[in-house]
Amino acid sequence: MNYRHVFHAGNFADVFKHVVLSLLLKSLHRKDTPFCYLDTHAGAGRYDLTSEAAQKTGEYRDGIQRLWDSEPLSDVADYLAAVHAINASGRLHYYPGSPAIARFFLRPQDRMVLLELQADECMALQAGFAGDRQVVVQRQDGYAGLKAYLPPMEKRGLVLLDPPYESNREFEQIVAGLRVAHDRWASGIYAIWYPIKDRPPVERFHRALTATGIRKMLLAEFCPFPEDSGFRLNGCGMVVINPPWKLEETLRRLLPELLDALRQHPAARTALSWLVPE
Ligand SMILES: C[S@@+](CC[C@H](N)C(=O)[O-])C[C@H]1O[C@@H](n2cnc3c(N)ncnc32)[C@H](O)[C@@H]1O
Repeated sequence: MNYRHVFHAGNFADVFKHVVLSLLLKSLHRKDTPFCYLDTHAGAGRYDLTSEAAQKTGEYRDGIQRLWDSEPLSDVADYLAAVHAINASGRLHYYPGSPAIARFFLRPQDRMVLLELQADECMALQAGFAGDRQVVVQRQDGYAGLKAYLPPMEKRGLVLLDPPYESNREFEQIVAGLRVAHDRWASGIYAIWYPIKDRPPVERFHRALTATGIRKMLLAEFCPFPEDSGFRLNGCGMVVINPPWKLEETLRRLLPELLDALRQHPAARTALSWLVPE
């Protein structure tokens, strides 16, 4: 396991993923009853954009930096508020990982469980949330966590699956993990991020998801680059199972605007469709 998210923190893929995550978390505020957020591959929690690693790739400059510097888009206001919350100086210094984004949306009655397998990343995560009674951090395999933590006692909430895709088996592991999770907790919201490099593995993934028999899967894709190279991250997607009311409508409006802010090529594109309807 070599993956270090700091090299990619705040890039276009993070922005897309965390904008969708913010919309999902915000939708859980519609009811006062508590919710639980489970992050199966949590990372370090937040990232220093001035660090050597982040500066080496500079990926954040075509991601969060562009949004930070531009006119705010109305549907990303909550997401940007979460980014501002960890940059109290008013300068873009840190980028919040999914745990810090989610923490921003927790109300006093809500809680979250963060799983991370890599020792260093997990130590950073533990340090970041030390003493926070609404947060549990465990050094644990995220897929095993789907068995251990679902269904949550709150009976409402969200699971984010955001693995590193270092191995070709990751797509299979996700599908297997989702089968287990959905059997245990069919009404939860599940958000799964995936990379788009080569199209064939993505198409196989979509077919395998459909074959699970799980209903209500919304598919959003965000590709700032054309799909003419299998070696570059051309774009990425999110599958949302049990998407909340109005998410589709919001994404239909928001994704083209976000793409205009982050596009890298005239052939950039977004897509939104139901992989499996209700
Ligand atoms: C893409 S990063 C997560 C980024 C984070 N979700 C965010 O949005 O800020 C994937 C993380 O999964 C961790 N990881 C890899 N295999 C894992 C496993 N089997 N279970 C839990 N975490 C794992 C890696 O160490 C890495 O920190």
